[in-house]
Amino acid sequence: RFDNSDPSRVMTLTRFMLEETRKNPDMQDFESLMGSIQLACKSINNLVMKAGMTNLLGLAGEVNIQGEDQKKLDVLSNDVLKNSLSYTGRCGVVASEEEEHPWLVEEAFQSKFVTVFDPLDGSSNVDAGIATGTIFGVFAEEEECLIPEEEANGMTINQIRERCLIRTLQPGSNLVAAGYCLYSSSCHLFVTFGNGVQGFTLDPEVGEFVLTHPDVKIPSRGKIYSFNEGNSPDWEEGLQKYVDDVKKGQGETGKKYTSRYIGSMVGDVHRTLLYGGIFGYPSDAKNKKGKLRLLYEAAPMSFLVEQAGGKSTTGSERILDLQPQTVHDRTPIILGSPEDVNECCKYLKE
Ligand code: AHG
Ligand code: MN
Ligand code: MN
Ligand code: MN
Repeated sequence: RFDNSDPSRVMTLTRFMLEETRKNPDMQDFESLMGSIQLACKSINNLVMKAGMTNLLGLAGEVNIQGEDQKKLDVLSNDVLKNSLSYTGRCGVVASEEEEHPWLVEEAFQSKFVTVFDPLDGSSNVDAGIATGTIFGVFAEEEECLIPEEEANGMTINQIRERCLIRTLQPGSNLVAAGYCLYSSSCHLFVTFGNGVQGFTLDPEVGEFVLTHPDVKIPSRGKIYSFNEGNSPDWEEGLQKYVDDVKKGQGETGKKYTSRYIGSMVGDVHRTLLYGGIFGYPSDAKNKKGKLRLLYEAAPMSFLVEQAGGKSTTGSERILDLQPQTVHDRTPIILGSPEDVNECCKYLKE
């Protein structure tokens, strides 16, 4: 049994992956993938923590496919993740918030994995030193993503892009792994491979992620609601009524809820996972489909929240059942403790 207080018996993410692979050889592929993801997250954590001293704050001067002003750290963290996912040879196709199109990984040799990621989530907070994160999701293809040389030679860039796109546009229910890394007062990496959620904390002195939250389970009910209430005049009525009631202690529990919202999905979801409650970015009069992106924000986070015993919905449909039409599709999302999400959905149906 691991004992984090005994340096000779500490359970690190690397050791956890080895032990899981010993139990289930299919985990072998994830072992190498998690090796590259954790390296990338340690690098991004390092970049974010020192950004104020290394002239890495502020804008990169480009507008991304989302129409957002890219931060320098959006671009840099995207490059860090692209490079680390390439050298594993396991990722055949990769898609990112910061890239218009999914791309075929040339270096891939056993390329069954399609990896999607948001390299720096909550990046508008990074100049103020407020929590940010990385979100990743992994789909497994039946056959190799590789395109045989002779076939690829005859294909146009658009045909290759089309092939990558078909592999990328999958519902969250097809995810085989998902997780996030939180860059905050602690650096936490929470991950699921479909049988529960394991939480790790970076020990900066050793440079290893240590298992600190085994088998994470979200509380069935919380007393925190986490929405951007600045948008509430444009919300549908039912949601306005839900928030009004719970903040006055007129919801099912009769207890007053408190509001916590930091504007980084990774931070807000991480707190919801550990403390319970409800987080959402609903649609509103201005954003019919909400703001958060289905493929690399809503779906991976929903997979993880469900694996911890929580729920995640658009208000009427389960997020993991949604089929993305484009790489950067947005979706309304309400997730968290099952009893809180169920209560909120009752207001939305009225
Ligand atoms: P990103 O920084 O990756 O573009 O994501 C920002 C998202 C998400 O992190 C957060 O929940 C949401 O934007 C906050 O949006 P508002 O500032 O509109 O509340
Ligand atoms: Mn962004
Ligand atoms: Mn994001
Ligand atoms: Mn981002």
